[in-house]
Amino acid sequence: MPTPENLLATARSLLYDKALVRYQGQFVGAVAAVSKQAGPKEAGQFHDDLNYGEVFVRDNVPVMIYLLLDRRPEIVRHFLNCCLQLQKTAGRSRGVFPNSFCEQQGQLVADYGQRAIGRVCAFDASLWVPILAWVYVQHTGDRAWASQPALQTALRRFLDLILQPQFRDGPGLEVPDGAFMIDRPLDVWGSPLEIQVLLYGALRSIAGLLRLEAAGVDAATDGLIAAALSRAQHLRQHLLRHYWITSRTIQSARQQPTEQYGDRVTNEYNVYAQTIPGWLQDWLGDRGGYLIGNVRTGRPDFRFFSLGNCLAALFGILTQPQQASLLQLMVQNQAALVGQMPLRICHPPLSKTEWQIFTGFDPKNRPGCYHNGGHWPCLTWFWAIAFRRYQAEAKSASPLLESSCQQVLQDCWHLLQQLPQQRWAEYFDGPTGRWVGQQARAYQTWTFVGFLLADHFLQPESTAADIFRLPASA
Ligand code: GLC
Repeated sequence: MPTPENLLATARSLLYDKALVRYQGQFVGAVAAVSKQAGPKEAGQFHDDLNYGEVFVRDNVPVMIYLLLDRRPEIVRHFLNCCLQLQKTAGRSRGVFPNSFCEQQGQLVADYGQRAIGRVCAFDASLWVPILAWVYVQHTGDRAWASQPALQTALRRFLDLILQPQFRDGPGLEVPDGAFMIDRPLDVWGSPLEIQVLLYGALRSIAGLLRLEAAGVDAATDGLIAAALSRAQHLRQHLLRHYWITSRTIQSARQQPTEQYGDRVTNEYNVYAQTIPGWLQDWLGDRGGYLIGNVRTGRPDFRFFSLGNCLAALFGILTQPQQASLLQLMVQNQAALVGQMPLRICHPPLSKTEWQIFTGFDPKNRPGCYHNGGHWPCLTWFWAIAFRRYQAEAKSASPLLESSCQQVLQDCWHLLQQLPQQRWAEYFDGPTGRWVGQQARAYQTWTFVGFLLADHFLQPESTAADIFRLPASA
């Protein structure tokens, strides 16, 4: 049985020797999966690699965080420079950053969704770029990079896209189905949590970066910063008011009047009590709380999405008592969220009929599989860092909550140690996540990098738990 040290060494060498790719002689990011080159090739075992040889922006989030911790900031800077270089500068989608890119005949070629399966557009990738830029600048102190025109112009262009007029006046960002890590239809259109949380992070990061402009902040830039911060503030209020639920908020929602019209209404989205699912009672318990998956007229999405919730804690959208309720909820639902492999991407899965209607019979997303309630080891470190950050900053953390969360995360660490035997699979299927995902890639980069990060953030003495700290809001 290999020791954890051996496993970590294997994961590191997969990253540095196999996954990172060069452009013009310098590392610029990691491919999504290295299955073809890394694993023992057995005939017929691998699917065609499709686009997994591309550098996906979202898959590189853990990679860039790890590289910062591993003192390789220059790779992060090159990666960010490529994203800036590939930002769209014309057309209706002027300002978006790529979903992914690759090198073809000596040139970087970007995909904005025009080549992706189902033509999905990764709104999350564009939102991550300014957040990662802020994390890089904050971690390295490289203000010279932050103040250069290439970044400052790109941020303004992106802000133009976010702040542009739209039909509905609300603080969020409306997106089509499959616009984030869940990049296939799963009834996650409209205002899904992960996008709103990333929008908040992006707005705050952009404001922080614009303040670093070399020429000094003029009145026009001041106006932009104020617009970004005010939008972020409204968005946070909106999320806490409409997405945050506890047993208490649900009980009052059950008593709300419906069919109200006008300015002063309590049930703004005209939600009928019958839409509140029965499983919520046990899921929330007395002390649990979380942000629901989506808010929309008459039909809130009560599913629990792990990444959006962890990020809401990390970006400080949730207050400390709310973070405690979230951690409590995750601990008490260990059986569903962890099972045999952490961490379930969302819960509960869409049932068979819902799956038929909302995914269009997508065989990858059958109930309990892939995005539809599958287990993704790459998500574990987000929970670990959210816990470490809470532990470091909470004014009155409950010792019981701390020790139970610590215990569950240790259990997760033991489960993650199966990953090398499972060839670092992308995701796991089945009611408890025991089975390697039916169409999972082997040697998936964010699986082995997530393993390295889970190790880092599970150590009691781990550093950089505040790596996602956003710039001051005033
Ligand atoms: C799948 C995942 C997506 C990921 C991509 C590359 O499409 O759904 O989240 O970015 O693979 O790994």
